[in-house]
Amino acid sequence: MRRQTRIDQLVGTHAEKLSERLQAHRAQLFPPHARKTLRKFTSGEVAALLGVKDAYLRKLSLDGKGPQPETGAGGRRLYSAEDILALRHFLDGRSKATYLPGRRPAPEGSGRKYDDPLQVITVINFKGGSGKTTTSAHLAQKCALDGYRVLAVDLDPQASLSALHGFQPEFDLLDGGTLYDAIRYVDPVPLREVIQPTYFPSLDIVPGNLDLMEFEHETPRAIMEKDGGTFFTRIGDALAQVQDDYDLVIMDCPPQLGFLTMSALSAATAVLVTVHPQMLDVMSMCQFLLMTSNLLEVVAEAGGDMSYDWLRYVVTRYEPGDGPQNQMVSFMRSLFGEHVLNHTVLKSTAISDAGITKQTLYEVERSQFTRATYDRARESLDSVNGEIEALVQQAWGR
Ligand SMILES: Nc1ncnc2c1ncn2[C@@H]1O[C@H](COP(=O)(O)OP(=O)(O)O)[C@@H](O)[C@H]1O
Ligand SMILES: [Mg+2]
Repeated sequence: MRRQTRIDQLVGTHAEKLSERLQAHRAQLFPPHARKTLRKFTSGEVAALLGVKDAYLRKLSLDGKGPQPETGAGGRRLYSAEDILALRHFLDGRSKATYLPGRRPAPEGSGRKYDDPLQVITVINFKGGSGKTTTSAHLAQKCALDGYRVLAVDLDPQASLSALHGFQPEFDLLDGGTLYDAIRYVDPVPLREVIQPTYFPSLDIVPGNLDLMEFEHETPRAIMEKDGGTFFTRIGDALAQVQDDYDLVIMDCPPQLGFLTMSALSAATAVLVTVHPQMLDVMSMCQFLLMTSNLLEVVAEAGGDMSYDWLRYVVTRYEPGDGPQNQMVSFMRSLFGEHVLNHTVLKSTAISDAGITKQTLYEVERSQFTRATYDRARESLDSVNGEIEALVQQAWGR
């Protein structure tokens, strides 16, 4: 007997319904073409970001020095992210402290702009939901707030990182505009053409969408035609075009070990593996590591650059009260030692709730949450990001 339902039709109907609803939901959250903007930061937050006393900031503003804050309710002084960056430039060089932690300029006449090489951090794991996008977004935004010039690259066709930054593939990227355009085999465009500014002054993004899948489809053919023999250098070559414009590149990889991920790993100077400390996730990561190692060996034999400054596992969505999770974290620490970051990203409703409105913890207002909830999550993310920033500084010999 013939079955009654055709799966293609049913799934098609569901996709249509869902897409309609999602579009309506997004239109409500951000009307099409509306640009996302960033909130103002309180003087307390700015003082903490800059590592100075709030009283010092007050004095600067009273003396009319540096960018002038806006006065909010109750006389609170509020700074934009642009003001924070301007303060960094204003303060840098006035004392021994470093307010601009990025790459140092090369000596004049050296022919190079910087001594410190561009840092390219690739965030990987083929388990979806292991926190790659959350980690990438928070790292990119925090580094931008800390005064680094950051380029975030969305390599995931599902484009969650882009969505978090206000890019809606179905409205904003109808005629391409992803990394694919810059790495495809036929008529690639300069990378600069697909870089977009964000509402963070020193954070740019290369958004993603389904076009990225084309690279997976085209690479085998290119290899057959002896054109894709160096598929693994394509992302690195594209990044080289803009290397003087940034201190850090952060790449959010798709949850699979395809040609995009391999090319990203070849471009990387550092690797972050996100891992949720549960048995199934760790087992899946084990397979991921085995496959990665085998594939990268092949790429290295073909002449791909597989040298890194560092690789770290970062424990995500961690619940310290959960016994089995604790065991899993101890187990990983005993196996991988210093390769596991000391700090963990705690599971927090502040992070997931912020995600619902397409925001990170750095974007939301603290007052939207129970203070303790926000502070705990924020401290955990700041600590993880701080450890990563220290690794970057170390790679630059500081
Ligand atoms: N630390 C966390 N606390 C609570 N929810 C989290 C946390 N990290 C991630 N999430 C949520 O888990 C889901 C998957 O995370 P995501 O970063 O998108 O993973 P991936 O990119 O690896 O697929 C998202 O809905 C996100 O909001
Ligand atoms: Mg993701």
